[in-house]
Amino acid sequence: MQSDISTLALRSFRYPQDADALTKLDTSFTTERIYHPVYGALSFQLREEPVTPPLSKRYPLEVENPAERAVWDYAVIAEEAGETVGFVAAQYTEWNRRVILWHLYVAPSRRRKGVGARLLGTVESYAHSVQARHLWLETQNTNYPAVQFYQRAGFAFCGFDSSLYDRSGFEQEETALFFMRPMNSG
Ligand SMILES: CC(C)(COP(=O)(O)OP(=O)(O)OC[C@H]1O[C@@H](n2cnc3c(N)ncnc32)[C@H](O)[C@@H]1OP(=O)(O)O)[C@@H](O)C(=O)NCCC(=O)NCCS
Repeated sequence: MQSDISTLALRSFRYPQDADALTKLDTSFTTERIYHPVYGALSFQLREEPVTPPLSKRYPLEVENPAERAVWDYAVIAEEAGETVGFVAAQYTEWNRRVILWHLYVAPSRRRKGVGARLLGTVESYAHSVQARHLWLETQNTNYPAVQFYQRAGFAFCGFDSSLYDRSGFEQEETALFFMRPMNSG
């Protein structure tokens, strides 16, 4: 952690009170490196590569969409001096005792200060409380910074899907990558 985040407050997301502030949270990232997928008949590899110009992408966060909010069993806002600087949302699926991390965003000016790790820590507590086997998440081969973050947080690569996304809507082809972190109770 590089600077003081002692003023950070974490609290439950409230709808509709937090909707405006959350809609304004910048969910984008920019990267100069990506993971290039290499497919074999029965194999898959990720090769780290530079990307020029740097790639930027913004994640959609449909706060006003009830179907979207319906899967947020757990949702927490990070605030600093009353400003929304982070958000995490997760769902517990009972049939496989998995906590799915649907959203994790930190405002660009507050990144690399431990806010993401703090938010993730609250999800881990939630996962313990529901006796989940593991945390699980989807990201993309283009989100190099997020992969670094999740690996640092102890997540292991557990699968991919090269056909998940409708590529017509994307400038850059993307492969879905899945990561998981077992819980002690698993
Ligand atoms: C991914 C994200 C949530 C991380 O939040 P954060 O508050 O910056 O992360 P932290 O400060 O807690 O980082 C903890 C550790 O993760 C690693 N890490 C985090 N961001 C990294 C980056 N951009 N590059 C390399 N490592 C990184 C580092 O090891 C870091 O520790 P350090 O700063 O002491 O070196 C944030 O970058 C973000 O909001 N990105 C845009 C949205 C996004 O991509 N969300 C994930 C969608 S799947």
